[in-house]
Amino acid sequence: MESPIEEHASKLLPAQTHIFNHIYSFINSMSLKCANDLCIPDIIHKYGQPMPLSQLIASLPIHPSKTGGIFRLMRILTYSGFFFQQNVTENELEVRYGLTDASKLLLKDHPLSMTSYLHSTFEPTKIKSWLQFSTWFKNDDPTPFFTENGMTFWDHAGHHPKFNHFMNDGMASDARLISSVVIEKCKGVFMGLESLVDVGGGTGTMAKAIAKTFPQLECIVFDLPHVVDGLQGNDNLKYVGGDMFEAIPPADALLLKWILHDWNDEECVKILKKCKEATTNKGKKGKVIIIDMVMETEKGDHESVETQLFFDMMMMVLVTGKERNEKEWAKLIFTAGFNDYKITPLSGLRSLIEVYP
Ligand SMILES: C[S@@+](CC[C@H](N)C(=O)[O-])C[C@H]1O[C@@H](n2cnc3c(N)ncnc32)[C@H](O)[C@@H]1O
Repeated sequence: MESPIEEHASKLLPAQTHIFNHIYSFINSMSLKCANDLCIPDIIHKYGQPMPLSQLIASLPIHPSKTGGIFRLMRILTYSGFFFQQNVTENELEVRYGLTDASKLLLKDHPLSMTSYLHSTFEPTKIKSWLQFSTWFKNDDPTPFFTENGMTFWDHAGHHPKFNHFMNDGMASDARLISSVVIEKCKGVFMGLESLVDVGGGTGTMAKAIAKTFPQLECIVFDLPHVVDGLQGNDNLKYVGGDMFEAIPPADALLLKWILHDWNDEECVKILKKCKEATTNKGKKGKVIIIDMVMETEKGDHESVETQLFFDMMMMVLVTGKERNEKEWAKLIFTAGFNDYKITPLSGLRSLIEVYP
């Protein structure tokens, strides 16, 4: 007969599995990074059809003693939805691997490729900041990133050109996908506008897409000087360097894509007030357009909620920001002196919030 302690212990096995699963969640990220570093999605894509493991191994620049590891790497990435398998037989070398939508988005030549986002996320200064998380809770530094690197994320980008470059490229990869979705689903948001400033617009991917779709719209990409210096505009797009906490160039619409989640409430109210000052045509047309997440922890599916929670933690570790639910957005918007807002979910993780003076 089992003693009460043994009975209790065996009931704890699922809890132990849960702990193991969370301790080792990083293995999903690292396996994905490894496959991407080895260009596995590109190699399978080039093959033109699901690729036998034997051919995949032969195409990889790996040491002959490591070939067995590729089956195991492909097995976990198939399990996590990055590849599908065909021709599953006893002989693992005959199994063929094909691309899913997720691995297609990691092709280097895909027009909406997320490879540079992946690279920028694994930048060592960012990864090491997570090791300072609990230390930061006990000190008065603004972020774990600051504890690790001795300066804020944005100062670090200003002082380290390679980091700045990785960061801007990563952002541009997200902007390619989101600008396509916004233009496809929310064209009406830009109708009737004569001018737009993309505040913190990075190297201009989003603004370029908008300027191309709406040639009558005068667009400005406004960002810190180290981000926009030397970039060339065109007929209806120009680059302006500056600090959004000081002054923002005037326009009918001020776009804030993935800006406010980088900052705490006090900082967001300052940015929104600067946007309000910069809004021309204060009557009907002037507005602020926010593209960011609206947290839906009760309504969303498991993966979306978990991803939003990941982003919220990332905002705490790297910068002073957070992800917000609708109530928190409304509070910011009204505290900054705006009168109304409208949220349009973009499907996926983000929403477009139009904010009216
Ligand atoms: C998360 S990125 C978003 C970039 C772009 N909007 C996008 O979504 O692709 C935040 C941007 O804000 C810019 N930024 C940070 N502090 C700023 C400031 N004080 N004034 C203007 N831009 C700033 C950064 O340089 C960076 O390009």
